[in-house]
Amino acid sequence: MTELETQLLETQKQVQEALATVTNESELEECRAKFLGRKGLLPALMSQLGKVPKEEKPAVGKTLNAVKNSVQEAFDACAAKIKESKEEQEALDISLPARHHAIGHKHPISLVMDRAVAIFRSMGFIVADGPDLENVWNNFDALNAPQDHPSRTPEDTFYFDLDKRHWLDPETMILRTQTSPVQIRSMKAQQPPVRIVCPGRCYRRDTPDATHGMSFHQIEGLYVDENVSLADLKGTLAVFSREMFGPNTKIRFRPHFFPFTEPSVECDASCIVCGGTGCRVCKGSGWIEIAGAGMVNPAVFKNVGYDTEKVSGFAFGLGIERIAMIRYSINDLRLLYDNDVRFLHQF
Ligand code: DAH
Repeated sequence: MTELETQLLETQKQVQEALATVTNESELEECRAKFLGRKGLLPALMSQLGKVPKEEKPAVGKTLNAVKNSVQEAFDACAAKIKESKEEQEALDISLPARHHAIGHKHPISLVMDRAVAIFRSMGFIVADGPDLENVWNNFDALNAPQDHPSRTPEDTFYFDLDKRHWLDPETMILRTQTSPVQIRSMKAQQPPVRIVCPGRCYRRDTPDATHGMSFHQIEGLYVDENVSLADLKGTLAVFSREMFGPNTKIRFRPHFFPFTEPSVECDASCIVCGGTGCRVCKGSGWIEIAGAGMVNPAVFKNVGYDTEKVSGFAFGLGIERIAMIRYSINDLRLLYDNDVRFLHQF
């Protein structure tokens, strides 16, 4: 065997050893450069074939071709092996559990609000809007609230700029304590008939506990036309209660006082938990208070320039948190505002 043939076979062995340790494409390329590249070991050996004596050339040439083929095959096999393992790693494993996408969903307050709005819309009410930041006239005076009403004091209501203005000044700004000022805004903006509901946030200086918050939601209703009666109010709240709490729900009115309505009532619904027989939720009475309501006081109509001889109307205010607590059996209002997703995901 010639010296060149020995070197060729030795290089072939080196190629096999080197490829055995290759695990990825970049190592493979390194190896290819070392043995087959322009300055690689095999091309260097091949270029020596020209110097081989004529009579030895056929034999050496044969060995050279055999080595070349075997080296090429070894490289191809190694490349195939790397490709295969890469595909295995990237392949889709259909037995894996699906990835969980946490999507948001509606807060119980929004669920109840949307439902209430849908029920009143089905009865022909349209949605009216008003600002949370309201003036004293719209929130109190126009609604016939006497100046010495306790709810007007800065202990009960959030006022702005009290260093510059008096809290009885009609133009002083407050965070509205009720959605009722939207009644005033709507009546000032249009002539009767008016049939609106106003969902919104209200604010009072209450210390938060299980049934009070310093911010809460109401939905206000107002219907003004010719010949509107207390029976219309009762029918409207009866339909609302049946749609919101279930078809067997009954309602009752109790006399009450609000400055902006005369007569005024509080409206109770039969308890949805016990159906009226008495339980812990209704404190044994069988009834749950759901709204304040009444016939719009003529003094309020005068404040917005309506003809009290021609029109009459009813108004009501529903507490959304209260309805949510009844509907979902929630016993502490604060749970609604902690925003613990484990709680919120139950609705
Ligand atoms: N504004 C009252 C409150 O916050 C609720 C209310 C009672 C609204 C009677 C009305 C109504 O429209 O007629 O307590």
